[in-house]
Amino acid sequence: MESRPLIFYVNGKKVVENTPNPEWTLLYYLRHHLRLVGSKEGCGEGGCGACTVMQSRFDPETRKIHNMAINACLTPLCSVHGSAVITVEGIGSVRQGKDCQVAWDAMWACTPGFVMSMYALLRNNPKPTEHDMEEAFQGYRPILDGFRTLCCKDLFQGNGTAGKCCEAYDTNENVEEVADILFDESEFLPYDPTAEIIFPPELQVNF
Ligand code: FES
Repeated sequence: MESRPLIFYVNGKKVVENTPNPEWTLLYYLRHHLRLVGSKEGCGEGGCGACTVMQSRFDPETRKIHNMAINACLTPLCSVHGSAVITVEGIGSVRQGKDCQVAWDAMWACTPGFVMSMYALLRNNPKPTEHDMEEAFQGYRPILDGFRTLCCKDLFQGNGTAGKCCEAYDTNENVEEVADILFDESEFLPYDPTAEIIFPPELQVNF
């Protein structure tokens, strides 16, 4: 029986694999065949998020593109046929995405899981609400809750202008001053969806 090659896109470039091993995961292929090592091998069982990438698929019924943050360590390579994958290297290659990554660097929280989950959220919804953020980072709830126990309530309840930060910082500094130390807001550009890698037109026609 004639076999067809596996075709998908990674960071805007077409990948054609004629002899995919059914046992390969997407993570293995990204790291060992494409040499994209920004997606990390952590737990290998979907728990840590270190391998997170964004997968986009065209839905012919709704004629919309759906973007999802997925764990590459659990994703069989062959299952990505006809889809587009963006890794952390992909968002670093465009100006806007770079700003996302810089923002996370500035907050000392730069892991592929956080960055790619935020990126997938922005690709689906360039102006997310606080509720959207909560939903998108549900998988990181224990981390967010853990940080809450270390920081002042005001910071997380949106009362930053009146609040004092936790004792880990100088208690004489208010939250705005601490935020100034962490990052300079003027360095970040507003999110511009038009600066993103486009979904490959080929995948809207043949798959
Ligand atoms: Fe931990 Fe994939 S390596 S979720």
